[in-house]
Formats: sequence, C-alpha cells, structure tokens
Amino acid sequence: VTALGIMAAAGTAQAAEMVVGFAQVGSESGWRAAETKTAKLRAHQDKVNLRISDAQQKQENEIKAIRSFVAQGVDGILLAPVVATGWDSVLREARDAKVPVFLLDRQIDTSDPTLYTAAVTSDTVLEGHMIGDHLAKLTNNKCRIVELQGTVGSSPAINRKKGFEEAIAAHPDMKIVRSQSGDFTRSGGKTVMESFIKAEDGGKNICAVFAHNDDMGIGAIQAIKEAGLKPGKDILVVSIDGVPDMFKAMANGEANGTVELSPDMAGPALKALIALKSNGTEPQKWIKTPSTLYTPATAAAEYKRRAPLY
Ligand code: AHR
Repeated sequence: VTALGIMAAAGTAQAAEMVVGFAQVGSESGWRAAETKTAKLRAHQDKVNLRISDAQQKQENEIKAIRSFVAQGVDGILLAPVVATGWDSVLREARDAKVPVFLLDRQIDTSDPTLYTAAVTSDTVLEGHMIGDHLAKLTNNKCRIVELQGTVGSSPAINRKKGFEEAIAAHPDMKIVRSQSGDFTRSGGKTVMESFIKAEDGGKNICAVFAHNDDMGIGAIQAIKEAGLKPGKDILVVSIDGVPDMFKAMANGEANGTVELSPDMAGPALKALIALKSNGTEPQKWIKTPSTLYTPATAAAEYKRRAPLY
C-alpha cells in the first residue's frame, strides 16, 4: 500500500461523511428554535455535516436553498415547508439529481408523493381535535371561541383548524366567533388578540382563545392581562406545542392546556436517511411523532423537566 494509496483512502473516508442540507422555515417561535437546536445536536451525534438555511418564513428562500443544496451535491435534504403548495417543480429537480428529501414538521400538497422520500411530522389534525375536546370538557360544551391561526397556507394551520372544528362540531353551543392569522409569532398573537378583545366588548364576550401554537397563546395572555382580565380564568387559553413558557403559564394558572409537538423531527429523519444510504432501507412514508395533551395539573413538574431541552 503506497502512501498515496493511504491518502486516497483517507480522502475517500472523509468524502463519505454525510452532508445534509436543512431548509428551515425561520425562527418564528420557541418551538422552531428548539427544532433547529435539536437538529444540530442529532447531526452531531450521527456525525452528519448539517448545513442550515434560514428562510425567514419565505417559500422563495426555501426553494433557493433547495436548489443550492442540490448544486452542492448534498446526500440529502431536510425541508420544513413554510406553506403546503408550490413544491412540485423544485422537488422534481432534487429527485432528478437523486437527492432524497425528507419533510419535517409540515406536510405538502402534491399529486406526486414520489417527490419526497418521507415526512416526519405529527398528526396535526389530531392535535386540533385533542385540544378542541379538552376545551369542550373545560367549558361544559358551551363557549364563544376566538381563534389565532398559524401561517396562512401552512399545513399545521389548515389541519389544526380542521381538527378543532371537527371536535366542536358535536356541540352547538361551542362556536368560533372570530378567527385570524397571527403567523405563529408571539407579537402576531398579541396584536390579533388585542383586536378581538376590542371587538368583543373589552373581552367580556370571549370564553376562550384557541391559538394554533403556544407562542401566539403567550402573546394572547399578554393582551388579556393588558385589557385588565385574567387569562386562564376570565378567558381560557388553549394551544399547541408544549414549549416551557406555556408550561410556566399553566403552572401560574394563566393557561388551560397544550398538546405537545416533539421538537425532534431531524433525529428520525437523519436515522432514516442513513439507513437508506447505507443499506437501501426504504423508510416509512409518514414517520409520525406523538401528540400528548398536557394540563395545568402537571405543568410545574413538566416545566422543570423540559426547560433544559430548550
Ligand atoms: O410546523 C410546526 C409549527 O411551526 C409549530 O407548531 C409552530 O410553533 C411553528 O411555527
């Protein structure tokens, strides 16, 4: 074995380290920041070189990032699609270049599911359903609800609304009386909730707010307090994500329930990509992450348990 041969082999070994591009939505919420942090950790554990692109919540930036990852010859792409539609052509380019694409935390609308390898997401319809059922129990099936929707056109906004509406449909005295997007941000949630409060007799006519994510729920809590009302009592607050700030709010009696969304989407995706690349194992098309309801009863303990993860 010549010195040159050893160097060539070392070169090959180095070149074999997996390079993965991650087209990430942005940093609109605490949950999103935790997902990015967990992705870095999982990549480190799996010895993957992860290149992250922050799209600042713009689909055009994610499309550019995918094209750039394909041009760089990456071994795989993780895509958290900001909205559900408009992916076919760029995903066709990735497929033609034989780059497997894994969807993270959001689904896409496409007539050709071969355009992506697998999706790692929760059942976002179920999340809406679970929190709707929880609110029905809390209010004895009678409630005037205001809804803070997530990013318009995103799969969790569409699906959480659908699941929630399905859950309350059985109860004629539960009604969504106002609904608007707060774009999954804390400031968006606060601003929209302020306008709902104004329109609903200073908030007196609102029984509960359903926020499509915890950050908007926390923004709503601020708006309710500033209006001189008690969140969690005068106006109930329910949402989805399970971030530490929401557990803190529940422990303080200011919120009434959340459905946890695991921030570890990249871990299962990288494992599946490694198995695909190393021995051709085809992943399940939908790698489903669990959805768990949490209530104020266990919030203080849950807060302590998960704060270090964030
Ligand atoms: O796609 C997941 C959603 O995106 C989370 O619920 C929300 O916090 C984030 O912005």
